[in-house]
Amino acid sequence: TNEIIIAPSILAADFARLGEEVTAIDAAGADWIHCDVMDGHFVPNISFGADVIKALRPLTKKVFDVHLMIAPVDPYLEAFEKAGADVVTIHAEAGPHLDRSLQAIRALGMKAGVSLCPATPESAIEYVLDRLDLVLVMTVNPGFGGQSFLESQLEKIARIRTMIGERPIRLEVDGGVTRDNAAAAAAAGADALVAGSAVFRGKSSADYAGNIAAIRLA
Ligand code: DX5
Ligand code: ZN
Repeated sequence: TNEIIIAPSILAADFARLGEEVTAIDAAGADWIHCDVMDGHFVPNISFGADVIKALRPLTKKVFDVHLMIAPVDPYLEAFEKAGADVVTIHAEAGPHLDRSLQAIRALGMKAGVSLCPATPESAIEYVLDRLDLVLVMTVNPGFGGQSFLESQLEKIARIRTMIGERPIRLEVDGGVTRDNAAAAAAAGADALVAGSAVFRGKSSADYAGNIAAIRLA
C-alpha cells in the first residue's frame, strides 16, 4: 500500500503572510500543498485564484494539489497549468462534461482529479476511472474550512477504494480531517488526507510540524 500523503490546506493559513505559511508547512513535513480555489458561484465563498498560486510556486518544490470549486472549469485550466499546478481536481457536479474536462487537464500535462460532494454517489466516476490520477471525497460540504467530518462518507470512501482496484489512483479525503478521524479515513481506504484547521491551529508555525506528525501517526 501507498504511503499516506498529508496535504495541508492553505485556506486555513494567515492570508496576510501566505508565503511564509507555505514555507512553514513545507519545513513542517507537508507532502503536498492543498490549494482551495472558490468562485462564489459553485460554492458560497470566494478564496483565491491562479495568480496567488503562481506567486507561491517558487517557494517550494512540493506538489501543488489544486482543488477547483469553480464552475465552469474549462476556461481556467490553462491558467492553473501556467501557475504551476501539479494536480488539478475538479468537481463532478461542476459541469455536464466531466470526461472532456478531465481530458483537458491531462492534455495540459497535469494530473487529473475528480471530487465528489457529500450527496454525490460514487457512481458519478464509474465511467471516467481511466482518466483519473486522484479521487477526492469531500467529508464536508465544500466552501468553508473548520467544519466537522461527515462520517457518512466513510462508506463511500471504501466503495471507491474497491472501484479503483489496481489502478494507480490516489484516494484523497478533504474536510474536517483531524488526528481523531484520520485513522478511520485511512482504514476506509484513503491514502491522501487534506487538513486545514487541524494543521494551522496553534499559536505559531512552531506547532505545524507537531500537528502534521500527529495526523500521520494516527
Ligand atoms: C473545503 C475545502 C477544504 C477545507 C479543509 O471546501 O475544500 O480543503 O479547507 O479545511 P478543514 O480541514 O478545516 O476542514
Ligand atoms: Zn479542498
